[in-house]
Amino acid sequence: MAFEAISKLVLLATLLCAANAQYWIFGGTRPIVTTRLDPVISPDAIGSHVHSVVGASRFKDVYDPADLVQSNCTTIPVQPDKSNYWAPQLYHQDQQTGELTPIPTTFNIYYLQRNGPTDQPIKAFPEGLRMVAGDTNRRSYNASSHADQAITFVCQDFSGAHNNDPDWAERPNFFDHNCPDGMRAQVFFPSCWDGVNLDSADHKSHMSYPIQNFNGGDCPDTHPVQLISLFYEMMVTVDKFDYWGPGTWVLANGDTTGYGHHGDFQNGWDVDLLQQAIDQCANVVANVQDCPPLAANFNQASADACVLETDIVNEDTGFSSPIRVLPGCNPLWNGTGPRPTCTGLSTPSLVPAQTALPLGWSEVGCIAEGTNGRALTGASTTSPTMTRAACASFCASKGFSLAGVEFSDECYCDNQMRNGATNGTVTWNECTNFCAGNSNEICGGPMRLTLLVTN
Ligand SMILES: *[C@@H]1O[C@H](CO)[C@@H](O)[C@H](O)[C@H]1NC(C)=O
Ligand SMILES: *[C@@H]1O[C@H](CO)[C@@H](O)[C@H](O)[C@H]1NC(C)=O
Ligand SMILES: *[C@@H]1O[C@H](CO)[C@@H](O)[C@H](O)[C@H]1NC(C)=O
Ligand SMILES: *[C@@H]1O[C@H](CO)[C@@H](O)[C@H](O)[C@H]1NC(C)=O
Repeated sequence: MAFEAISKLVLLATLLCAANAQYWIFGGTRPIVTTRLDPVISPDAIGSHVHSVVGASRFKDVYDPADLVQSNCTTIPVQPDKSNYWAPQLYHQDQQTGELTPIPTTFNIYYLQRNGPTDQPIKAFPEGLRMVAGDTNRRSYNASSHADQAITFVCQDFSGAHNNDPDWAERPNFFDHNCPDGMRAQVFFPSCWDGVNLDSADHKSHMSYPIQNFNGGDCPDTHPVQLISLFYEMMVTVDKFDYWGPGTWVLANGDTTGYGHHGDFQNGWDVDLLQQAIDQCANVVANVQDCPPLAANFNQASADACVLETDIVNEDTGFSSPIRVLPGCNPLWNGTGPRPTCTGLSTPSLVPAQTALPLGWSEVGCIAEGTNGRALTGASTTSPTMTRAACASFCASKGFSLAGVEFSDECYCDNQMRNGATNGTVTWNECTNFCAGNSNEICGGPMRLTLLVTN
């Protein structure tokens, strides 16, 4: 229901802004990873701060569009969109201890048809395009800058109790009170392209906001190509935490004001499909299913089962227990006084997102449980730190050659398949449970096992 309310608000804004102004939304999209990587700003290196990253499963420290489109899957329901979308993770600071807890996050990603009065044709993102909106170092607001206007916050209260209250209106920085139905940190990307450069030194100057408004209008002569407009709402469940004043909310870059919020995009679309959607779906309002080229490629099951295939930074981002310091050099800073510096930092390494299997073991895939009993009955265990590797090791230690993980934390072993089960795999996306010990890895599903074998 929250989602409908959001759509209505945006529809209203849309109608006020531009004539040809319909859009579709990838709503409630789950991050594929939260880690300190940024292939646009810090290619081939550890990034400066932790990002919440949505989209394709081959996200890594270097943007290689040809590799990215080979991703097995994406957390975006329309699977041919192998793009990645990311923004700084938002943390909650404990008032007493100063400890930081990442706030659970999902994204609503909007594709909007927002050309101006001259009705320039709207183009798909060119292959290889990347861009940044917002500025991690900003701690102030210039009301006449489209770039600054493009970063906004919304405090959700679906009761309507604060309608028309200026203290609750959409604004360029954090609120001074909690938000009973969560907060949206929003980024509107520039939609005008210079037609030549897929990137630029500052990752911005190859793009421009339109002439009339940050969120719609004609493109300037310097950036004549009108692209589809990209906007994302990072939904953060701030309501699950207390609010105690400035410093309650901290972006992963150390910003306690919100002005330093930003978003990054790297294109991984099937560009022809995106252009078809733009051309055929000018009248769609919100619902992807109303746009035939997108509806034909809609696969929520694959989005739900998608996990990262690549590497993460080997450091604690606070998801299992609160952290004392933000990863990287990101001391809290609201723009008053000089920015604090850091000493004695070491650079962490990259590690595979999915825990490597013990030597000699390999994954068969997702299989169906037995029809009249369990597929594997030789031994079993459960563990809050279960991974595929942990299960394989357990079964190996008991002398078994088959291992199966199920329901995130259950492990079963045997030397043969029983009770009508076989090692024939079902569609991979029927295994949808993240491992209890590693959320970047799948450990079975409902009546489904991730089957592992040793040779
Ligand atoms: C990705 O694709 C490869 C090759 O098809 C497959 O072996 C692997 O299991 C897939 N991984 C996931 C997480 O789906
Ligand atoms: C604010 O933004 C406008 C428009 O981009 C720019 O002309 C002006 O110089 C900016 N002011 C400051 C103080 O940066
Ligand atoms: C900004 O930070 C300074 C130093 O930490 C602090 O004294 C000041 O009260 C803060 N301002 C706001 C508005 O939170
Ligand atoms: C599946 O089981 C059959 C025997 O029932 C075996 O020959 C085959 O190698 C197994 N496949 C895998 C991938 O383990």
